[in-house]
Formats: sequence, structure tokens, C-alpha cells
Amino acid sequence: MLKLTKALLCAAAVSMAGLVQAADPIIIKFAHVVADNTPKGQGALMFQKLVGEHPKLKDRVKVEVYPNSALFGDGKEMEALLVGDVQMLAPSLAKFEQYTKKVQIFDLPFLFNDLAAVDRFQQGPQGKALLSSMNDKGIHGLAYWHNGLKQLSANKKVILPKDARGLKFRVQASSVLEEQFKAIRANPRKMSFAEVYQGLQTGTVNGTENTWSNYESQKVYEVQPFFTETNHGLIDYMVITNAKFWNGLPEDVRSELQTIIDQVTVKVNEQAEALNRTARQTIINAKTSEIDPLTPEQRQQWRDAMRPVWDKFSDEIGADLIKAADESNKAS
Ligand code: LMR
Repeated sequence: MLKLTKALLCAAAVSMAGLVQAADPIIIKFAHVVADNTPKGQGALMFQKLVGEHPKLKDRVKVEVYPNSALFGDGKEMEALLVGDVQMLAPSLAKFEQYTKKVQIFDLPFLFNDLAAVDRFQQGPQGKALLSSMNDKGIHGLAYWHNGLKQLSANKKVILPKDARGLKFRVQASSVLEEQFKAIRANPRKMSFAEVYQGLQTGTVNGTENTWSNYESQKVYEVQPFFTETNHGLIDYMVITNAKFWNGLPEDVRSELQTIIDQVTVKVNEQAEALNRTARQTIINAKTSEIDPLTPEQRQQWRDAMRPVWDKFSDEIGADLIKAADESNKAS
């Protein structure tokens, strides 16, 4: 009898150990639409690496990164997050208007003078509050990652707003960005990121706006002979997760993951400007396009032409929020 009990106990122990060993790791699919050699692409890979090396997480969590719209692209990725087909995304801040009108603030043209001002706003109380502004929709914001300031590109030389009249510009899925191009009497056209190169190549659109790193990594310089250094707006990201998934994680796993995200955020935000500078140089070296800087007077014309967009969205976004963001331009 004793022997039998012992044998049973042993068998139970063995199968328990088997269970523990076989316990499936938590899978975090992190999908995004850009290339690996961009601020966001690098951030996603850094996150994967740090989780993979972390003594408490490496056997419990597995991060899979899907760049270049390989798993889900614009238009599908948010739904995929909400139904649990992916667990993390970092969409551009221009892609949230279906879920909150407030995040539209980041698309207002000529709002931030530089990334230092963006940092002051994002890390201040109002910026931080926006991270949880979509929790009721099931989306939880974990961090902001920088890409950088936007430049214009076109199939003709565009120095002043009037040069852009009548041109078709690709925009992200953002009403603010549509209005921004309407303000200069150009024709905005919403298009997903994966379609941009072809759209420009075939002439579906004549120009676009993006950061140097996105232009370079998508080889947009092959199909756009002119870039205008306008620095007129921002492409930044909100790293998001499915709120239910996140809240359902074991407490210790969640807090270690948040710590890693915070570390990655510091690095991404430190590196973004340098990555964009390098990408700009690569475009110059390719010798396919000209990059036109603007004089302060020329840039002022763009500002004057686009600024009325602020008033159009001030009710939706909130005048107080816009004021707080504008004030972040004053160095503290
Ligand atoms: C775009 O669609 O142009 C950007 O949002 C792509 C990105 O994620 O940087």
C-alpha cells in the first residue's frame, strides 16, 4: 500500500513538473508598419531583446515583432489589438481619432517647436493623462515614442504654400491632417503607410509628409524628386496594449514589462533625432532628390497658412489642452 502511494505521489510529482515545464509562455505579438531601421522599429526590437534577456521574464514571456505591416497594417491593426490577435502596437498619434479626439492635438501643424517641447508636454500631467484616455475603449497607453518632425515631399519643387495648390498629398487617417492640406488648397488623400511608395510612383498622389527615417527606409526618395524641410508637424507614437490583456497579466510580469518599456522609451527618444539625421544624409547621398530648406520668412508663410486648422479642432481637442501644449514650447 505504502509502495503504491509512493508511486502515485511520484507520478503526480512528475506530471506536475511536466505541467510547469510545459506551461506556455505569454505571447506578446508586437506589430507595426515601419521598417526595423527606424525609431519605432528599433524600439520594438529593443523591447523584444530586453524581455528575452530578463531573468524573471525570459521563460514566461515571448515577444514576437512583426514590422512592415507584415501581420497587420493601418486600418486593421487596431481591430486586431481589440480582439486579441496582437497584444502591442505603436501607431502614430495621427491614427487614434476613432478612439479619442484629444490625441488629435499632436497633429496640429506648427504646434511644437522641437522634440524637447514635445517631451515637456508628453511627460507633463496633460500628456500623461492622454495615455489612459482610451481605457474605456479597451486600449491602454504605455508610453510615447518619438519619431520626429515632418517634412514635405512632392514631384515638383514646393517652397511656398501656393506651390502646393492642387497637388494630391497622401495623409495618414487623420481629419486634422486633411484640413491642414485643405488649408493650403491642396488635395489630401488618406492612404495606409504600406501603399505610400506605390501611390507616389503611380501618381495616385503627388506628394506626402513624413519624417526622414520613414522616407529613407521606404525609399521614397526614388519616387519623389523634391523634399521641403518644413518641420511643420510631428510623427510620434503611442505604445499601446489591449487593456484587458494587460490587466490580466500576473502583477510581477506586468510591472517588469512596464519597467522595460520605460527603459526602451528613454533609448528610443534619445536616438530618434540621430536616426532621422542619418536618414536625411542617406537621401542626400542617393542624389535622386533635392532637399530645400526654408528661410524663416518662407516658413512663416506655411505657419500662417496652416494655423487656422487649430481653431477648427479647438472644441474637439479642448482649448486648455492646446494651450498646455503650446506652453511646452517655453523652456522650463
Ligand atoms: C505613416 O503612416 O506615415 C506613419 O504613421 C508610419 C509610422 O508608423 O511611422
